[in-house]
Amino acid sequence: MKTAITLRVNGDAYDVVVPPQRTLLEVLRDKLLLTGSKQGCDKGDCGCCTVLIDGEAVLSCLTLAVEAQERDITTIEGLADGDVLHPLQEAFIRAWATQCGFCTPGMIMSGVALLEKNPTPSLDDVRRALGSNLCRCTGYVKIFDAVILAAQMQRERAAAQP
Ligand code: FES
Ligand code: FES
Repeated sequence: MKTAITLRVNGDAYDVVVPPQRTLLEVLRDKLLLTGSKQGCDKGDCGCCTVLIDGEAVLSCLTLAVEAQERDITTIEGLADGDVLHPLQEAFIRAWATQCGFCTPGMIMSGVALLEKNPTPSLDDVRRALGSNLCRCTGYVKIFDAVILAAQMQRERAAAQP
């Protein structure tokens, strides 16, 4: 049996027909072709499938697509404003926080959820917020540096606004 649902992703509405057991991650990647959210462990261990639902960081591999109806879903594809990267995306580049890049979308989404709640996070705050995101390459230090840098960039952008 399949169910017709509408998902609101990055500000756009998508009508899809899915079996009730289909995960949000599967629908994002396979139906909507939004492949930025990565399918790593597919069981809640690695964090690379993290998206925002109503501003909260959520593991999309553990979320059924039908549960995500009527909610605002944001994926890594929805962060940039046209050609202007989100400060955390830019900070990842500046801080050399990416190696293979597989964990990067999930790290960034967890970092964005943190910065939206806490614009001046301490290093411990960053460690806690990204504690469910695994990286096999970087050793984490540059990733944490990037989140702290992004917080600073956000404050500078805000101060520069008239
Ligand atoms: S793919 Fe979702 S936590 Fe690993
Ligand atoms: S950069 Fe390779 S897993 Fe994190």
